[in-house]
Amino acid sequence: MRRKGWSQRRCNVPRANPALLIVEDDSGLQQQLKWCFSDDYQVLLAENRERGLELVDLHEPPIVLLDLGLPPDAANASEGLRALEQILVRAPETKVIVITGNEAREHALEAVGTGAYDYYQKPVDPDLLQLIVERAYRLHELQMERRRLVQSPENPLEGVIATSPQMLRACRLVERVASSDATVLLLGESGTGKELLAQAVHRLSGRKNRRMVAINCASIPENLLESELFGFEKGAFTGATRQTIGKIEYADGGTLFLDEIGDLPLSLQAKLLRFLQERVIERLGARGEIPVDVRVVCATNQDLHAMMRAGDFREDLYYRLSEISVEVPSLRDRDGDAALLAHAFLRRYAERDKRPLRGFSADALAAIRGYSWPGNVRELENVIRRAVIMADGAEVTAADLGLDVDMEEVEPLKLREVRDRAERRTVSRALGLANGNLVRASELLGVSRPTLYSLLNKYGLRNARWGEPDSPVEARQ
Ligand SMILES: Nc1ncnc2c1ncn2[C@@H]1O[C@H](COP(=O)(O)OP(=O)(O)OP(=O)(O)O)[C@@H](O)[C@H]1O
Ligand SMILES: [Mg+2]
Repeated sequence: MRRKGWSQRRCNVPRANPALLIVEDDSGLQQQLKWCFSDDYQVLLAENRERGLELVDLHEPPIVLLDLGLPPDAANASEGLRALEQILVRAPETKVIVITGNEAREHALEAVGTGAYDYYQKPVDPDLLQLIVERAYRLHELQMERRRLVQSPENPLEGVIATSPQMLRACRLVERVASSDATVLLLGESGTGKELLAQAVHRLSGRKNRRMVAINCASIPENLLESELFGFEKGAFTGATRQTIGKIEYADGGTLFLDEIGDLPLSLQAKLLRFLQERVIERLGARGEIPVDVRVVCATNQDLHAMMRAGDFREDLYYRLSEISVEVPSLRDRDGDAALLAHAFLRRYAERDKRPLRGFSADALAAIRGYSWPGNVRELENVIRRAVIMADGAEVTAADLGLDVDMEEVEPLKLREVRDRAERRTVSRALGLANGNLVRASELLGVSRPTLYSLLNKYGLRNARWGEPDSPVEARQ
């Protein structure tokens, strides 16, 4: 085996000695491979599946060279394929390159379907194998780098995944106001992450070591909500067998999160307003007032202005609650967040369900981009959780996601496609406005007639009909 060609490329491997695991039962080949790679990698050797898995757990090697024909089933690939699955469950980012005998191509394809990065057939050609390994290593590095970026501290708020300017703006606002005691009102559609931001407000505030007490105003019947909020004395009403502290009092020193504040009945709105003004509460059936020091954060997906106009929400309460209001954008209005969140959820659920999934197919990513996500992040999370269970290949496909998307409508990313689409749309519009008159249309578009002709040909619009059912474009010049 020649080492010459290898050392020339060695300098391209950026870091000193990343781990490379070789799982191979043929000790001759093992040594040969070790010799080939030991200049560039910290080579780890295993002769069977169990030892291989031990080394994966210990070293998390970015690259594994895996012989599919392992004992006790060396003539078949079952032991090797099992090893592959288990490696990917433990270390999904690992690039596994499977090595097979010449006759076993279908096993190699099965391995790639299971999530192997690539395959290679014996006899080993060191130059070629080195190339495959190096490329796999680079890809691994890139993926790690992206992961580091996604998790880096300059990222929004702990637990909040976002890259869009729209969501980052909301996160910055939360960050800025968290340390004050101002009341924060979070406004946004269902599933946009209002509760997540409420938790961030608490965590970033001076009250973080005290309680955050949440109460959902929509899920508690009106007659119980008052005692839930304010507490009651023994004997205050039938069934009040002992003194009970309400949520507001329970949150003393910490944060009170009033979720779905738009659902607070009018009668309680007056009581809450009084508390916000006086900062004292009176338990039901009690005589004295108790001072309570809480920071209030509330959230709703309702249009409070419309409710105020309809007389369903008190204006004075609104102004008390919205000292700072944060608009949480809906997912469809966040540029690029859907794909970022989808990747994060895929990682989370593939790890949890131990599914060796590599990522999304291109059509899946296009569907994620094109879908309107009426249920926002919650819907996206559920869709990915389900797709992780449904997917039977190495990647999640558009079919696994099961989204109702017209793929024709999905805005492409390739600039050329974007331009073509815009051009086609504009030409169509001009033809419509000109009622099919090509002279007029070319004037509207500011192009010559021959240019318009070539555009009509390019986009298959020559026989399009505009307005009147039986008057093709060509017939109306
Ligand atoms: N930016 C985000 N990054 C990570 N997870 C998110 C993000 N936004 C929301 N989630 C997750 O989506 C789910 C819904 O979020 P959350 O409960 O905070 O939404 P909400 O706005 O309070 O919804 P609702 O109005 O229906 O109560 C949660 O599981 C939450 O962890
Ligand atoms: Mg909520």
